[in-house]
Amino acid sequence: MTLPKAVAFAHWMIAQNIRPGDTVIDATCGNGGDTVFLAEAVSPAGHVHAFDIQSEAIQATYARLKKESLEPHVTLHHCSHDYAVSVLTEAERTSVRAAVFNLGYLPGSDKQIVTSASSTTAAVLSYLHTFPPGVPVIVVIYHGHPGGNAERTAVENLAAELSEQEVRVLRYSLEFQEKAPPYVLTFEKTGEESPHLSNLVQAYSHISTKG
Ligand SMILES: C[S@@+](CC[C@H](N)C(=O)[O-])C[C@H]1O[C@@H](n2cnc3c(N)ncnc32)[C@H](O)[C@@H]1O
Repeated sequence: MTLPKAVAFAHWMIAQNIRPGDTVIDATCGNGGDTVFLAEAVSPAGHVHAFDIQSEAIQATYARLKKESLEPHVTLHHCSHDYAVSVLTEAERTSVRAAVFNLGYLPGSDKQIVTSASSTTAAVLSYLHTFPPGVPVIVVIYHGHPGGNAERTAVENLAAELSEQEVRVLRYSLEFQEKAPPYVLTFEKTGEESPHLSNLVQAYSHISTKG
């Protein structure tokens, strides 16, 4: 057995949950690695909604999809991932089966443009609130770059604030490594109803609008 690194573990977890025909979210498409993986898994009948705030990332992902003839199975959204819920139709929202975030900066690009604590936490919460119970919201957390530690703290604080009856959280982390390797937090809504999640969505969307 070889313990997988964070991204490989995230892909393994996604593969356990999705199949051809499903709708899935790539919250940070970057250079398209996750988007291609998701498109291959859900095609031919399924669909990927992929988000990024950088046009460079959207273009890179499109080029990669086109090379694999996967572009018909993906809609690329040039906007922040916390808008995902509002750009999907009601039918799409109910058919989402997984969402993945790969935090940090676009490899090979401007390292100042990174995912942020406010939009990441707002997006994670809105996905948990909107998508059906049992849908994994998978966050691959990088924390070695400037701002990474603050974002990781925000995501962990959010995880601690959630009610365990409503949302389960799994951490996958390789320990005792020299560098600060990425790790994975997976959030899963149980389906037990409580106003706690809705209240948090309100609180965090306020933070997100403020930036
Ligand atoms: C680590 S990269 C993603 C890598 C990508 N998943 C892949 O497989 O190539 C992080 C990406 O998040 C994007 N990003 C930053 N803030 C964002 C936001 N609020 N919404 C969506 N994407 C964002 C960055 O532009 C960057 O391309």
